[in-house]
Amino acid sequence: TGNVAFDPGFMNTANARSAVTYIDGNNGILRYRGYPIEELAQHSTFIETAYLLIYGELPTPAQLEDFDTRVRRHTMVHEDLKSFFNGFPRNAHPMPVLSSAVSALSTFYADSLDPFDQQQVEISTIRLLAKVPTLAAYAFKKSKGEPMLYPQNDLNYTENFLRMCFGVPAEDYEIDPTMAKALDVLLMLHADHEQNCSTSTVRLVGSSHANMFASVSAGINALYGPLHGGANEAVLAMLNRIQQEGVKPEEFMEKVKNKESGARLMGFGHRVYKNYDPRARIVKDYAHDILEKLGGNDEQLDIAMRLEEKALADEYFVERKLYPNVDFYTGLIYKAMGFPEKMFTVLFAIGRLPGWIAQWREMIEDPETKIGRPRQLYVGEAERHYPQG
Ligand code: CMC
Repeated sequence: TGNVAFDPGFMNTANARSAVTYIDGNNGILRYRGYPIEELAQHSTFIETAYLLIYGELPTPAQLEDFDTRVRRHTMVHEDLKSFFNGFPRNAHPMPVLSSAVSALSTFYADSLDPFDQQQVEISTIRLLAKVPTLAAYAFKKSKGEPMLYPQNDLNYTENFLRMCFGVPAEDYEIDPTMAKALDVLLMLHADHEQNCSTSTVRLVGSSHANMFASVSAGINALYGPLHGGANEAVLAMLNRIQQEGVKPEEFMEKVKNKESGARLMGFGHRVYKNYDPRARIVKDYAHDILEKLGGNDEQLDIAMRLEEKALADEYFVERKLYPNVDFYTGLIYKAMGFPEKMFTVLFAIGRLPGWIAQWREMIEDPETKIGRPRQLYVGEAERHYPQG
C-alpha cells in the first residue's frame, strides 16, 4: 500500500485549510473568524454570527438588515413538502425526518443546485438558513399531532422558530424574551466547531460536488449519533435514569470508571478540548439563571453539578483530561423551555447550520479541494479461487 498513513478517527489528519473557526483545545479557546466565543455570546445574535461565519466579517448594519430580510423572505416551504411529513410514523424521531426533508429540498430547487454558480450557492445558503427552522418545527408539530404553523416574518429568527414550535392557530403566541434570548445564545454557541464529525461529513459529501442540500442533509445524519450531537439527548436520559432509579451519582461514576456495560459519562470528554469546553462554561453560567426564570428541573441540575464536581476531582477523569462539553448542560435548558428530549439534537442542527454552510462554501471555493477518498490498510484474504467441480 506504499506510504499510506494509518489514522483511524483522523486523530492526526488535517483535511482542509480553514479560516472559519479556531480552537485551542489545551487552553479551552474557541473563536469564530477570530472573535472569541465569549464576546459573541454576550454581544452578537445568531443571525449576525451566521453572517460572520459565512462571509468572514461582521456585517455593517445595512448588510445585516439585508441578510436578515432575505432570510425572513424565504422561511416558507413549498406546500407539497408539507404533505411529505404525513408519511412518517407519528412517533418518528425528528432528526431523520429533518434530514430527509432537507434532502428533499434538492428536488424543489433542482434548477439552482450548481455548486460553481455563485448566485445559486447564495440562494441555497439563504434558503437553507430560512427553511430549516420551519422544517424542524413541522417535524415537531407532526410528532405532537398539532397543526403546522406558517412562519411569521415580523419575528426574528429565534422567535419565529419558537412560535412555530409552541404556538397554536387558535391563540396568539406570546414570545417570552428570556427564552428567546437564551435560545439565540445557545444556537450561537453551536454555530461552528471546525472539522467535527458532521462538518467533515458535509465537506466530504460536498467534495464529490454534491449540492449544498444533499451535503447538509448528510451532516444532520452524522450529528444524530450519541457520540456527537445526540449527546445532549443522551445526557438527559442519563440524568432521568439517575433521578428516577435513585442511583447515587457516586455509584454511577463507579460504573462509568469500571467501563462496565460501556457506560460513559455523557456530555463529558472531547476529541480536541483537553480542558473545560468554553461553550460549556457559558451554558453552565446561564443554566442557573435560566432554570430559575423558566422553572426548570433544579434537582436534575443539582445531579449534573454533583456529577461534574465528582468527575473533575476524580483521577480517572483528570488523567484522561475529560471535562464537561457543550452538551452537558444544554439539555436541561431545552427541557425547561418545553422541548421534549427528541428535539434537543434538532436544536443543535439549527445552531450548526451556518457552520456547515460556511465550511461547504470554503471547501467548494478552495482550489486545493479534491474529492475526499481515504485509503485503507487491507487485512483480508489474499487471492483465492472459487471451488470448481
Ligand atoms: N466517560 C467515560 N470515559 C470516557 C468518556 C466519557 N464521557 N470520554 C472518553 N472517555 C475515556 C475513554 O474510555 C478512553 O479511556 P481509555 O484511554 O482508558 O481507553 C479515554 O477517555 C479517551 O477517550 P476516547 O474515546 O479515545 O476519545 P475520543 O476523542 O475518541 O472521543 C468523545 C471523544 C467525545 C466521542 C468521547 O469523549 C465521548 O464518547 N464522550 C461522551 C459523548 C459526548 O458527550 N459527546 C459530545 C461531544 S461534544 C459536542 C459534539 O461533538 O456533539
